[in-house]
Amino acid sequence: MTTNHPTHAGKFYLTKPVFFIGFMGAGKTSISQQIAVTCGVASIDADEYLELREDRIVADIFAEDGEEAFRDIETDVLRDLAKRSPRLIGCGGGVVTKRPVNAQIMKEAGYVVYLKVSADGAAARIPNTDSRPMFKNLETARKTIVEREPQYEAAADVSVDTEGRTIREVADEVVELLLDAGVLVKRD
Ligand code: S3P
Repeated sequence: MTTNHPTHAGKFYLTKPVFFIGFMGAGKTSISQQIAVTCGVASIDADEYLELREDRIVADIFAEDGEEAFRDIETDVLRDLAKRSPRLIGCGGGVVTKRPVNAQIMKEAGYVVYLKVSADGAAARIPNTDSRPMFKNLETARKTIVEREPQYEAAADVSVDTEGRTIREVADEVVELLLDAGVLVKRD
């Protein structure tokens, strides 16, 4: 296989956890995975970790126990990940919207990257919105993004536009930003 994008397994390390926030479909998981592969650092999807811990998928937690119960678990998972060894963490889209303490946990422990996307851009990237209880339809998604935008901006150390860009393009920009911030460091 040929690639013009070399991998650098073990060539870099993180000085603190990096939290990716933004609306569903912004690419939080894909972009953190891409950076993990090219830089050789660890990444995790917070919702996947939550599902494993709870032994239930997010949609079932919403359906069986409601959003409040999900948000309580989400905060608990965030605290857990914030104190582990640094990795790239793709957070759920509502992480900074319902529990102010979440933004505090992320700011204190790590570096927060906001990945920006429009509702239309997000819808194009989400193959199956059934797994996303908060993505009801395009009209609601547009309203939700407008409501959440100030919260995402306030919680972020840096914002990156993802609209119409490939995962690799965005990942490369984020790598540069993390290097500049001293959060991602090249080994000697
Ligand atoms: C949510 C986004 C989802 C998941 C849950 C709630 C939201 O995560 O945490 O369905 O409130 O925006 P993704 O952003 O990874 O889809």
